[in-house]
Amino acid sequence: MTILEVRSLSRRFGGLQALSEVTFSVRPREIVGVIGPNGAGKTTLFSTLVGFIRPDTGSVALDGRDLAGLKPHKVAAIGMTKTFQNVALFAESSVLDNVLTAGLLRHDVDRAREQALNCLDRVGLREVAGKLAGDLSFPERARVELARALCTAPKVLLLDEVMAALNHAEMTEIMQLIRSLRDDGVTLLVVEHHMRAIMNICDRILVLNFGRLLAEGTPDRVARDPQVIEAYLGRSAEALRR
Ligand SMILES: Nc1ncnc2c1ncn2[C@@H]1O[C@H](COP(=O)(O)OP(=O)(O)OP(=O)(O)O)[C@@H](O)[C@H]1O
Ligand SMILES: [Mg+2]
Repeated sequence: MTILEVRSLSRRFGGLQALSEVTFSVRPREIVGVIGPNGAGKTTLFSTLVGFIRPDTGSVALDGRDLAGLKPHKVAAIGMTKTFQNVALFAESSVLDNVLTAGLLRHDVDRAREQALNCLDRVGLREVAGKLAGDLSFPERARVELARALCTAPKVLLLDEVMAALNHAEMTEIMQLIRSLRDDGVTLLVVEHHMRAIMNICDRILVLNFGRLLAEGTPDRVARDPQVIEAYLGRSAEALRR
């Protein structure tokens, strides 16, 4: 049984092959990590999955439904959404309104407000719902971004470096949140450079390198894969084995 089926996805930017024949599938309630060096194509993959970028070739199916040609808001309405690596909130709007806007994809205003407050609760930001988004700290803004994604009630949620710039305690909280989302039935794909976090929360890991799927497997297997170590993990692989 699969919820997400990705077949032979390719995308070129000028002379650069950003994604090359990427094929994988994801089971419901899986937490799948996507790792790889800077520029490997991780964000491009997520953007292509949700319809921000059109693939040159290949297909994406969510719950058996072909997503070809659908715009991101349509894909979100069907049940898949992503967070943005570079968080861009409406700085002059309240935190609540920033989240509520995303919820309007799925709900009417009253229900969206209720959902937005629930989602803010979930990411620990209920108390700052009335603040201007522009007045938040960087880690808080990352949480708002997460609440915005949650407010679309995703079946499949793609998280692009939501732990960047978080301290240890904040990272632990986000990891707990990711697990609790899975317990609620959400399927998650997670791009993250923090290897400890990735190895800790993921059932399976995909490794991208120069737009290609270099390896795929359990965290343990991937961490021991000589090709992965050479391409990406380097000396940090030693730390992982400890
Ligand atoms: N819109 C675009 N136009 C041209 N080139 C792009 C575009 N988006 C991404 N690229 C290029 O495609 C490659 C893959 O970029 P991408 O952002 O997907 O990498 P990434 O794995 O997310 O990297 P990082 O870990 O730094 O976030 C890079 O070489 C990048 O410069
Ligand atoms: Mg990226």
